[in-house]
Amino acid sequence: MKMKSLSLQTRCPPDPMAQHGGFWFPGYIVEAMEAVALFEPRASDVLLASFPKSGTTWLKALAFAAVHRAEHPPHSPDHPLRHRNPHQCVEFLEFAFAESATTADDVFAALPSPRVLATHLPYSLLPERVTVTAEAGRIVYICRDPKDTLVSMWMFAKKCMAVAGSGTAVEEEDTFTFKEAFELFCQGQCANGPPWHHVAGYWEASQRWPDKVLFLRYEELLQDPVGNVRKLAGFMGRGFSEDEEAAGLLQQIVELCSFHALKNMKVNKSGTVYDLKNESFFRNGVAGDWTNHMTPAMAAMLDKIVHDALGLQGSGF
Ligand code: A3P
Repeated sequence: MKMKSLSLQTRCPPDPMAQHGGFWFPGYIVEAMEAVALFEPRASDVLLASFPKSGTTWLKALAFAAVHRAEHPPHSPDHPLRHRNPHQCVEFLEFAFAESATTADDVFAALPSPRVLATHLPYSLLPERVTVTAEAGRIVYICRDPKDTLVSMWMFAKKCMAVAGSGTAVEEEDTFTFKEAFELFCQGQCANGPPWHHVAGYWEASQRWPDKVLFLRYEELLQDPVGNVRKLAGFMGRGFSEDEEAAGLLQQIVELCSFHALKNMKVNKSGTVYDLKNESFFRNGVAGDWTNHMTPAMAAMLDKIVHDALGLQGSGF
């Protein structure tokens, strides 16, 4: 599909977006869909899926560190996470294919198994070979209170707009108010939105195929990182042995990937990824920051939209 055939909605900072398959995406992602469909999965793959600003960076770090703990012990000064941002350790399928389908193909094919990959694409738009074929690997989804996701997304969009060359003019940065971000979000009009449809797709898949799709929650990870990383590793087929646990490996991974450890690493204070400063991916990393930006009425309105859309009663969500 060529960009000129897309009808782009322009007021949805930081990028103009188009609707595709019931979701909103920047035009370059819609254009990359056909190429993503050619991606060749392996049964050993772990695909980390998330709605943007829901804890993707953290999940990437944890899954990468857990899967590669034999060749990269978490206490090692040479650990890749001490020298690279988590987004440089685990790539997004659709961004790589959008950049260059041929390069993405080569880069992913060259990765040794088991590969840890990532996507923000909704479950319904993942290529079938990634979800239901024998070659399909496992999927781990992370979900977050959408009120915190919205605040994080608004702050992040403003940072993106401050970067020259972003889809929206730099001078518009100051005019993108939280009120406008809230209204657009409530209409589902944000990258990969509507957020509740995104969550619902992965939630349903996790209920239907619990061995294939693991559903994690950001707030639960904050409350019990050790328990959730133990679950994550087990699901990925890389459960911690008693000896590893006794040696403190699990705890070391949790510490290596903690908000404060990652945020304070030199690479994350100075480097860039996707033309953005690495530090943009580490703001305050807590649950409940929405109370500082939203009135109780706004929160109730968004909660109701999510509640109605997810049919919370009886869905087990
Ligand atoms: P806040 O903006 O609320 O602080 P994503 O990684 O999907 O882009 O999500 C970004 C959010 O995750 C940001 O939330 C960021 O601060 C938070 N985050 C990043 N790394 C984290 C970590 N190691 N632990 C907890 N939260 C983290």
